[in-house]
Amino acid sequence: MIERITNLRTAFQTESADVPSSDALEALRIKYLGRKGLISGLFDGIKDVPAAERRDYGKALNELKNLATARLDELQRTLTSARPAQTIDLTLPGRKDFIGGLHPLTIVLNEITDIFRRMGFTVETGPEAETVHYNFDALNTPIWHPARDATDTFYLDITGGQWLLRTETSPVQIRVMERQPPPIRIIAPGRVYRNDKPDATHSPVFMQVEGLYVDKGVTFADLKGTVLAFYRALFGDDVSVRFRPHFFPFTEPSAEVDMSCIFCSGKGCRICKQTGWLEMGGSGMVDPNVFIGVGIDPEIYTGWAFGLGIERIAILKWGVDDIRLFYENDLRFLEQFKP
Ligand code: DAH
Repeated sequence: MIERITNLRTAFQTESADVPSSDALEALRIKYLGRKGLISGLFDGIKDVPAAERRDYGKALNELKNLATARLDELQRTLTSARPAQTIDLTLPGRKDFIGGLHPLTIVLNEITDIFRRMGFTVETGPEAETVHYNFDALNTPIWHPARDATDTFYLDITGGQWLLRTETSPVQIRVMERQPPPIRIIAPGRVYRNDKPDATHSPVFMQVEGLYVDKGVTFADLKGTVLAFYRALFGDDVSVRFRPHFFPFTEPSAEVDMSCIFCSGKGCRICKQTGWLEMGGSGMVDPNVFIGVGIDPEIYTGWAFGLGIERIAILKWGVDDIRLFYENDLRFLEQFKP
């Protein structure tokens, strides 16, 4: 009878030599130590063992039970310690790839630069932290001009008032004319800053595209034709433009640029405040004082310039009703512009 125990021990030792998983371990425990397991079965058989052998049989069987329990506990410990603290749940849904898109202002900016490139303009940039010289003085801005006030302009304090965040892209005109003789035909898009309270139509940071064309015999008619061609390329051949007399320190004569309202085709609606026209920016013929400052002879050369709003274009293109949306980086807004 005792052989049965010896055989079972050998079988158990073989089977418990290598247990790959907790599931296999549990199966082994049930097979040997479960209520209907092999070892329990031998306990049940005690009654059939001849009385003389019963004592040794019981002892050997208990030893086998203890050995099996100890071995299974040991296996349990090695399996749990080998397992990483957090198991990977392979049933979890995978994480989707996140593909970013272009910011709506970048999309219009690309469209704008494409149009002007086709008309022979090159793209220039300038610093957003500018000097008072480039932002105001060189642009013929009188010392008393309200735009110079700290209530309108962000001065960079540590520079003792000599530096500021540019309030317009016009200083790029000066930087280009200083380093390059005519003919000059450039646009300069970029961010500008003004000390304005944010609301639906104002943001302390916004974008402009500056244009500058300097050569012999450049006329106001060139300016009108270029601006008209630009807005037609953007909004279709039905739009027209008009130039309203205005004042800018760096141009003479100066004009504000209006485009016919694309929502009512100029008939008058809520968007254009019943005027039929939308304000798009400023323009004019480069003031001789500006030319003299950069060493270009105004007797030989003439030129025109403009500064147009970029958000204005984006707002009209997509019917966005609040400029702040472009700067809040709310994905619910931005994701609508994904290609
Ligand atoms: N710099 C002007 C502004 O920010 C816009 C402007 C007007 C730019 C006339 C020009 C120009 O180049 O000729 O309001």
